[in-house]
Amino acid sequence: MLELVDLSKTFPDGTQAVRGVSLGADPGELLVLLGPSGCGKTTTLRMIAGLESPTAGCVRLDGQEVTHSPASERDIGFVFQFYALYPHMTVLANLEFPLQNVGLDAENRQAAINDVVTRLGIAHLLDSFPSQLSGGDQQRIALGRAMVRTPRLYLMDEPLGTIDTGLRSDLRETFRTQQLDLEVTTVYVTHDQEEAMQLADRIIIMRDGVIVQEGSPHEVYDEPADLYVADFLGSPGMNLVQGRWEDQGERAFFATKESRISMPQIEIENDRDITLGVRPEHVSVETPLEESAAHLTGRVKRSEYRGDHYILHLDTPAGPFLVRSDRAHTSGQMNVRLPDERLCLFDTKTGRRLA
Ligand SMILES: Nc1ncnc2c1ncn2[C@@H]1O[C@H](COP(=O)(O)OP(=O)(O)OP(=O)(O)O)[C@@H](O)[C@H]1O
Ligand SMILES: [Mg+2]
Repeated sequence: MLELVDLSKTFPDGTQAVRGVSLGADPGELLVLLGPSGCGKTTTLRMIAGLESPTAGCVRLDGQEVTHSPASERDIGFVFQFYALYPHMTVLANLEFPLQNVGLDAENRQAAINDVVTRLGIAHLLDSFPSQLSGGDQQRIALGRAMVRTPRLYLMDEPLGTIDTGLRSDLRETFRTQQLDLEVTTVYVTHDQEEAMQLADRIIIMRDGVIVQEGSPHEVYDEPADLYVADFLGSPGMNLVQGRWEDQGERAFFATKESRISMPQIEIENDRDITLGVRPEHVSVETPLEESAAHLTGRVKRSEYRGDHYILHLDTPAGPFLVRSDRAHTSGQMNVRLPDERLCLFDTKTGRRLA
């Protein structure tokens, strides 16, 4: 079990890379740290690994404080962003090295290597030296070198960064299968939301050194805590429309400069600045439209082809608006229904979600 309590790192030049990060991972859980470049993911991981000393807070492993103990005492298997293999050793020797390090006998070393070689499909590479391998294969071996052991914790920092999309997805599944089989608690860092969704039991979203939201992939996608997460997740992200809340007693409206959208009754004070959020795949194109239903009317500017669907770009009185659709639409007027149960309302000033 892993526990971080109020962990912070300020570098000597004054950069506050991580500010008060607290989180816990249950045994066998896979946490994904997700966030844009520079938000503090690698620094957090390096503090867990013991490669960076926190300026405040603590790291606990299995209930024992390890905040300032050396990396070698933490029993962690890690793969870092730019992880070099030992260049003078063959692939086989690279895989065997961590096992010799922990004093495993030859028979058990062989068994562990066979297992990881089969999982990763790297039997044909065993006699090669790293310099003879492609970047993707080198990264695969680096992954194998971590997976060959069953440590207390796996720490992965964008381990599949330079690998092609297809192979990347396969390797992700391979890693996840092994991690589930061995029940090794894992912290996996990425800035790729698709990767986060595919792997995570729980996603921790970071921004500027702090955690902005944590939850299952479903929770963070469907119930973003604030405007930042709403916009960050999804491709494209949530439609965000700025307006004002009009509470008329009997009925409530979301009002923009040029339109008024009928809303379900929610306890929000009259005249508050509100941002309405709805995902492009959660709105439906409907004709005719039920008069009372929340809707927007817009003009289709462009149908963007996405292979198995289209993204329609609409111009509406409330601003630009995206709709996912099975087919292309020629330009013209279109009614879009906004389903009550899919709408997110945010306080425009604070960015926090209200309902
Ligand atoms: N040794 C250092 N000295 C000073 N500042 C640093 C140092 N290492 C990292 N930083 C800064 O700390 C912040 C967080 O960096 P970090 O590498 O943790 O980000 P990251 O989320 O891993 O980004 P990326 O996705 O680009 O890898 C950045 O502003 C970075 O420039
Ligand atoms: Mg990084």
